[in-house]
Amino acid sequence: MEDFEDRVAFITGGASGAGFGQARVFGAAGCRIAIADVRQDALDDAVATLATQGIDAFPVTLDIRDRDAYARAADAVEDHFDAPVTLLFNTAGVNGFGALEEATYADFDWILGVNFGGVVNGMQTFVPRMIAAGRGGHIVSVASMAGFEGNPTAGIYAASKAAVMNLMESYAIALAPHGIGVSTLCPASVRSDIANALDRRPDELASGSSFRDDPRFIDAQRRLYAGGMDPIELAGHVRTAIEENLLYVLPFTETREGVRAHFDRVLSFYDAYDTDPAAADGRARAFLRYREEAQALRESP
Ligand SMILES: NC(=O)c1ccc[n+]([C@@H]2O[C@H](COP(=O)([O-])OP(=O)(O)OC[C@H]3O[C@@H](n4cnc5c(N)ncnc54)[C@H](O)[C@@H]3O)[C@@H](O)[C@H]2O)c1
Repeated sequence: MEDFEDRVAFITGGASGAGFGQARVFGAAGCRIAIADVRQDALDDAVATLATQGIDAFPVTLDIRDRDAYARAADAVEDHFDAPVTLLFNTAGVNGFGALEEATYADFDWILGVNFGGVVNGMQTFVPRMIAAGRGGHIVSVASMAGFEGNPTAGIYAASKAAVMNLMESYAIALAPHGIGVSTLCPASVRSDIANALDRRPDELASGSSFRDDPRFIDAQRRLYAGGMDPIELAGHVRTAIEENLLYVLPFTETREGVRAHFDRVLSFYDAYDTDPAAADGRARAFLRYREEAQALRESP
C-alpha cells in the first residue's frame, strides 16, 4: 500500500512516544490523523505540537480496554472525517517489572487488558468496518522484542506481546483477500515515556501490585529509553513496512543474534525425538490432506 494521501489513520497511544512518531510521519505523508489515548493532558499537548507541524489531528480520549467506548471512538472519528478508517495503529501499551512469581491477578489484568485486550478491541472494532469500506488498508500492531522470549521480570508483558505477534500472523492471512495488510512492529528500545507507564494504571487494578516503582529503578528505565530509537525514525520504518506489506518490522538489528539463538534452542528440543521418521511422515501427509479438504469445504461450503 502506498497511497497515504487522505486516508484516515487511527493511532492508539498517539499522544506519546512511538504513537506520536506515527502521527507525525503519517500526518506528513498526507493521512488524516486521529490520536487516541487514555491521558487527556497528553492528548492536548500532542494536538498542539502536531498543529505547529501543520498536522490537524483529531484527539479521542479512550481507554482501549473499554469495548463500548472503542466503538464510540470509531464512530466519532469516522463522523469527524466523513470517511472510514483504513489505517489502524494498535500502538498503546504499558509495562511493569517485578518478580513473576509475586504477580497479582491485577498485574495480569492490567498488562494483558491493555497490551492484548486493547489490540483485540481495535481489531474487533475496525476490521469489519475496513472490510465493509472496501478500500483495503493496513493494520500495524506494536508488540516488542520481548514477545520472542520469556522473561522472569517482565513475564506478563512478554506474554502479552507474544499473543499480539501470533494473532497478527493469523490476521495477515485472514485479511489479505480483503486487500488489508498487517504488520507487527517489535521494538527493542524507543525514546518514549514508557518508563512512567505505572502512572497510567487505573486505581482499581493498582492495589497490592508487585511491580517495582522505586524511583531509582524508574530513573534507570528512563535512562535506558532515552538512549532508544527516535520515534520518527521508527515510524519511518513502519511506513516502509506498509509500503512493502512486511509481516514483521524488525529494525533493531542488535537483537538478531539473540532471536536466532532462542529459536535454535527451541528447534534443538526436536532432536530427542528423531527416532521414527516414517511415522512422522505419515502424520504430516494426513495433516496436509486434512488441510486441503478443509480448504475445499471453505471454498464451496
Ligand atoms: N519504549 C520502548 O522501548 C518499547 C519497547 C518495546 C515495545 N514498546 C511498545 O511500544 C508501544 C508504545 O509505547 P511507547 O514506548 O511509545 O510508550 P509511551 O508511554 O510513550 O506511549 C504509550 C501511550 O499509550 C497510552 N496508554 C496507556 N494505556 C492506555 C490505555 N489503556 N488506553 C489508551 N492509551 C493508553 C499512554 O498514555 C501513552 O501515551 C507500546 O505498545 C510498548 O509496549 C516500547
